[in-house]
Amino acid sequence: MTAPARTHTSAELIRAEAPVLAHNYHPLPVVVARAEGTWVEDVEGRRYLDMLAGYSALNFGHRNPVLIEAAHRQLDRLTLTSRAFHNDRLAHFAASLARLTGLDMVLPMNTGAEAVESAVKVARKWAYEVKGVAPDRATIVVAADNFHGRTTTIVSFSTDETARSGFGPFTPGFRIVPYNDLAALEAAVDETTAAVLIEPIQGEAGVVIPDDGYLAGVRELTSRKGCLFVADEIQSGLGRTGTTLAVDHEGVVPDLLLLGKALGGGIVPVSAVVGRRDVLEVLRPGEHGSTFGGNPLAAAVGSAVVELLETGEFQRRAAELGVVLRDGLAALVGKGVEGFRARGLWAGVDIDPSIGTGREISEGLMREGVLVKDTHGSTIRLAPPLTITADELRSALAALEKVLAQGV
Ligand SMILES: Cc1ncc(COP(=O)(O)O)c(C=O)c1O
Repeated sequence: MTAPARTHTSAELIRAEAPVLAHNYHPLPVVVARAEGTWVEDVEGRRYLDMLAGYSALNFGHRNPVLIEAAHRQLDRLTLTSRAFHNDRLAHFAASLARLTGLDMVLPMNTGAEAVESAVKVARKWAYEVKGVAPDRATIVVAADNFHGRTTTIVSFSTDETARSGFGPFTPGFRIVPYNDLAALEAAVDETTAAVLIEPIQGEAGVVIPDDGYLAGVRELTSRKGCLFVADEIQSGLGRTGTTLAVDHEGVVPDLLLLGKALGGGIVPVSAVVGRRDVLEVLRPGEHGSTFGGNPLAAAVGSAVVELLETGEFQRRAAELGVVLRDGLAALVGKGVEGFRARGLWAGVDIDPSIGTGREISEGLMREGVLVKDTHGSTIRLAPPLTITADELRSALAALEKVLAQGV
């Protein structure tokens, strides 16, 4: 098939996908052709406010000028070396990311799932070499309703049947406990436990925020029992919740921290396992790697992302505008919103199912020029770029109020 010319309509482009593209997604019927800041534009020139931000991969907005400039500069100089050689960008990236997170060392990868897989391997190796767990007996304790990605090992410890069904046999070595339940965690951790792996806020589950004290409790329990605390902040991290990391709300430092999405500035896939030196040092040459992990373009963009976060501006915006989001949603409770959970510029909103499914509400909002994504059932998730203005946020809330009032 030849590349579609600009004259194709959205409907034509959507029809053209079906025979040639695997059907593993069910996107909203909008075909984006251009974007800037908080706004995207479809092929017909219709503009939409982006209230999803690529599942938080676009925390700094579409085509953030600082990040685009960093990418352009790097594109003109060096893009890829593989880790067979050193490149002149990687040391700076790793040092700045370690400084931002208060940890020691960085294992650079590309996608979120790769960072999770890498952490599983590092934790197991640490368990055998440092903790002294018997060979092949290591366990990792995870939470029900987690979302950590789509590889076969990761779906092995998912509780979402759609994500698992048809993909077995599964990787053993995982124990699943209810989220936000320290007693269950205490009971599940034993001498075989390499790590507890959790999301500090469960994003795909509907922005589920644990009780105050849960993360501090996980930190205390894992330290006391001698296993690692691995925090998956691939969606919750890098400014989204009003702090650099979601664990910062409880002043907790994990042993391994997983970052992705926004680390690539909405330009390139960049992920990382950031962690304690004595843990990441269990990896030796040849035991783990990635052709693209730590490539100079990724490192240049990732360094620029860290510089943006070091200003504190994005965390501050998320915290301040989070109040506007929270107040706006609170005003809709009883008017089509049954309840919501919000932290910073991130909210899971449970819609009265008699009004419509999350999908129907998302389609209604699309018709009003606002893009969101449903999660489960009648829940929609709001996660705009952190560059959004208060007026733009209010207009998105007004659109939600209108859709809920008129029905779908
Ligand atoms: C918490 C969390 N972990 C891991 C992932 C997987 O990231 P990726 O899609 O880049 O593999 C996601 C993606 O939504 C996520 O939200």
